[in-house]
Amino acid sequence: MSVLVTGGAGFIGSNFVLRSRRLRPDVPLVDVDLLTYAGNLENLASLEGDGGHVFVRADVADRAAMEAVFAEHRPAGVIHFAAESHVDRSILDATPFVRNNVLGTQILLDLSRAHGVRRFLQVSTDEVYGTLGPTGAFREDTPLAPNSPYAASKAAADLLVRAAVHTHKLDAVITRCSNNYGPFQFPEKLIPLMIANALEDKPLPVYGDGLQVRDWLHVEDHCDAIWTVYEQARAGSIYNIGGNSERTNLEVVRRLLAALGKGEELIRYVADRPGHDRRYAMDASRLKADLGWSPAWRFEEGLDATITWYREHRGWWERVRSGAYRDYYERQYGRRLPA
Ligand code: NAD
Ligand code: DAU
Repeated sequence: MSVLVTGGAGFIGSNFVLRSRRLRPDVPLVDVDLLTYAGNLENLASLEGDGGHVFVRADVADRAAMEAVFAEHRPAGVIHFAAESHVDRSILDATPFVRNNVLGTQILLDLSRAHGVRRFLQVSTDEVYGTLGPTGAFREDTPLAPNSPYAASKAAADLLVRAAVHTHKLDAVITRCSNNYGPFQFPEKLIPLMIANALEDKPLPVYGDGLQVRDWLHVEDHCDAIWTVYEQARAGSIYNIGGNSERTNLEVVRRLLAALGKGEELIRYVADRPGHDRRYAMDASRLKADLGWSPAWRFEEGLDATITWYREHRGWWERVRSGAYRDYYERQYGRRLPA
């Protein structure tokens, strides 16, 4: 029985699909992605010829298109990654976040119910909890207090999942994770942006004083945690996923400049992000106590491995930055992607 993965051409989704095909070849995946600016089929090129991975270009917020996908593939489960994911873009224009993240989730919940899906997993974020002072950590019962339009759209989607469980008895679970890093991350997010800029000797834009704190989670650890929750959690449960790796942005930037042999004169302090959340930290003890999961990667090793990946895949991020990565779709499917 297949699992429908949404957003499988994005950063976390493509890592999840690649890792799942390698470690769980018995689980066929149907991979639905709209290929927005953040979706990159090049990430999945190594799966060409793999009959256990079917890619469908479709919009999760298009009910008719998704009805056709559910009717044809009859997935046993849904793992929902697809979303607009970048906080800065949501500050410029929140509309696609409401459409893709909120409406898209509701349509998937409706179709999951109508087609008898046995488990729905909503991939959510620590940002739904808002921001922390210098101490403490988010728990699953921390009240939702999203601060950015992105975070608000994810919190809205989480509440729709909750309502589907409560009202319609849909078997759904929610995971909320901290900042991911690793291969194939779009170079608009902190770590890949800073690596790519440093490799090109361009300035590294640090927002405000750079002392904001994030808890870094290697994307492989995130993918493994998702399978753990998908397979073992009780219906209706919520699990935090964290990396036990709180670092200030400046610590991250300095560490990667040192690893790349570049000087700190590349750092540029720029205007702060409006409404910038100061600190995130995750208490993921419930996941460890209930289901035995904890992260395997140490942050400094994961960062070194990520730097190596971006060094060795310069063509990948140069094509992303130039927009040429979208040519892959044309070569593969014989028609251009709409902008
Ligand atoms: P991403 O932006 O790299 O990828 C998102 C993918 O979703 C893209 O391939 C895009 O084409 C696709 N997509 C967007 N709208 C769509 C639609 N309407 N229909 C079909 N596909 C659509 O994002 P990411 O960083 O991989 O994040 C994946 C999920 O994980 C998101 O739900 C995000 O909120 C969540 N998350 C991310 C992080 C992180 O650190 N990156 C942390 C916590 C939670
Ligand atoms: O916490 C989970 C969230 O992590 C996910 O839900 C989001 O999808 C994901 O994008 C990420 O959000 P952040 O806003 O934390 O990530 P970002 O990489 O954009 O920024 C990380 C920190 O670095 C944040 O404090 C802002 C800062 N920053 C970011 C950029 C892009 C800079 O100082 N300069 C920059 O140029």
